[in-house]
Amino acid sequence: MLKPTRLLFLGAPGSGKGTILKRLLKRFPQLHPISSGDVLRSQISKGTEIGKEADKYIKTGLLVPDSTMVNLITEQLRELNGLNDKANWLLDGFPRTFAQAEKLTEILDTTNANLNLVVELDVDQKLILHRIESRYVHLPSGRIYSLDYNPPKVPFKDDVTGEDLVKREDDNAKTFKKRLDKYNEEIGPLREYYQKLGIWHSVSGETSDIIYPKVEKLVYEL
Ligand code: AP5
Ligand code: MG
Repeated sequence: MLKPTRLLFLGAPGSGKGTILKRLLKRFPQLHPISSGDVLRSQISKGTEIGKEADKYIKTGLLVPDSTMVNLITEQLRELNGLNDKANWLLDGFPRTFAQAEKLTEILDTTNANLNLVVELDVDQKLILHRIESRYVHLPSGRIYSLDYNPPKVPFKDDVTGEDLVKREDDNAKTFKKRLDKYNEEIGPLREYYQKLGIWHSVSGETSDIIYPKVEKLVYEL
């Protein structure tokens, strides 16, 4: 990785954003990750006002309002000193509406810290309900497991801490359908926006093992 990398992952729920992100960090530890869903789940578990608001949207598969998301993620970027032209970071799940994208560009423009790579993970949507149903997570760390793809060493326990794994409250067939519909509604304008900026790429493949090397190559070639 030769130049500062400011990367965004787009992709349907269950497309593997979190999984690819974890692998990329092993290769490029200087990339600071911000996963919008993890940030929100942390607010929920701390019982903050933002968490209470977000919980209502997340459990029903709706998007949290744009202004809340923009403030929350900008604050995270500021905390990791990410608002400058030398910064390296990776956003997973934000922006995910056209309005969020426009607002973020406006904010990053002021400090010359623009996104320079957007990668859409394009996975067959017929595959992903099964993934969601077999996913278990360690909430405090955001570590992701799958009962069949990457099972924990001890059933239902986190590999690192030994603590219990849980199911996310939005990982059920009914809520998943709404999340997927919402994604399909929002992605068109977002894709077009980043295409016009000349930074959008799409990688496809049935498994993360096929997708990962393609993402790594894009980062190297930046
Ligand atoms: P968020 O947490 O971002 O959820 P999401 O976008 O729905 O995506 P997921 O985390 O479910 O999937 P992923 O792509 O990370 O897949 P993973 O790697 O885990 O957001 C949750 C909610 O927060 C939203 O619905 C919304 O309400 C709110 N929110 C967040 N950001 C927002 C924003 N910007 N604006 C408004 N609201 C916002 O993989 C899935 C499973 O598959 C895992 O079990 C994994 O082990 C397994 N797996 C991965 N690769 C493979 C493979 N190759 N083969 C088999 N299994 C695999
Ligand atoms: Mg995720």
